[in-house]
Amino acid sequence: MNLKGKHFLKMLDFSPEEINGLVDLALKLKAEKKQGKSQKSYLEGKNIALIFEKTSTRTRCSFEVAAYDMGANVTYLDPSGSQIGKKESIADTARVLGRMYDGIEYRGFEQTKVENLAKYAGVPVWNGLTNESHPTQMIADMMTIKEHFGKLEGLKFVYMGDARYNMGNSLMVTCAKLGMDFVACTNKKYFPEAALVKQCEEIAKQTGASITLTEDVEAGCKDADVIYTDVWVSMGEPDEVWSERIADLSPYQVNAKAFSYAKANAKFMHCLPAFHDLKTTIGQEIYDKFGIDCMEVTDEIFEGERSIVFDEAENRMHSIKAVMYATLG
Ligand code: CP
Ligand code: NVA
Repeated sequence: MNLKGKHFLKMLDFSPEEINGLVDLALKLKAEKKQGKSQKSYLEGKNIALIFEKTSTRTRCSFEVAAYDMGANVTYLDPSGSQIGKKESIADTARVLGRMYDGIEYRGFEQTKVENLAKYAGVPVWNGLTNESHPTQMIADMMTIKEHFGKLEGLKFVYMGDARYNMGNSLMVTCAKLGMDFVACTNKKYFPEAALVKQCEEIAKQTGASITLTEDVEAGCKDADVIYTDVWVSMGEPDEVWSERIADLSPYQVNAKAFSYAKANAKFMHCLPAFHDLKTTIGQEIYDKFGIDCMEVTDEIFEGERSIVFDEAENRMHSIKAVMYATLG
């Protein structure tokens, strides 16, 4: 695997070997950190810009800690703290930051923006989430699955909920590339876009993967190894869509019934943040308005023994370290 100088924008850009290479590198970097080995020399003296046009806990902290562990410095630009898009175009911003920084992380709205930033920056650009994709999350997710199952190929991976946004898209592509059986189990309004499904079916022919779209929870979850979900309304979407989403996606909540169809050792995953109780402002508002005390996953499953969501969250840091090291180190 040689990714030096490359951008990390979407999973379609990478071969199965490169994706597996990043997963294995992340596992190695995690083991090194657990053993207390210093990684300071890996990116010593490099400067990294972190641009966030949407909020973040995991992605921002992962980039910062990963950079510090490897001896790099970071500048964080928050959604209101720069001229980007308001007074200065992405192309101009890219050319300015590219003169100062060795690598740039970008979280924002349209995928075209991060692609444009990469086109002009002259240094590696890493996608920290767009409406269409969330590639750094993919390395963490696959790494977590590999830790728990010892392999990726041949596993049945079921995605429930809003499968037509960043998480559903990226997971479908990643599973197709890695020879997994991907199922989008949801209301057909939320199936991934037909063109992307077709592209993934072509990839699947080469890798032995399969792509299934179904509205049937029992068939979808039957013998699943992993059941995955994400929020029903994503960052940047208007509040008005909540009532429609709740009506459309409630049958696809990850709960004990969904897991009753899965394998005995099946795991629950979620990129987080998750609405599984009333301990958030939005969770409470939704309860007041719609009378439901959880959304995409029940508290029982989220807190239960099948849930590996906090391993997954920790692995964001190790996998982002792998992405930065592979492209910059
Ligand atoms: N999973 C994830 O990207 O989390 P943040 O929005 O907190 O970065
Ligand atoms: N689909 C979610 C993912 C958050 C990590 C969002 O875009 O808000």
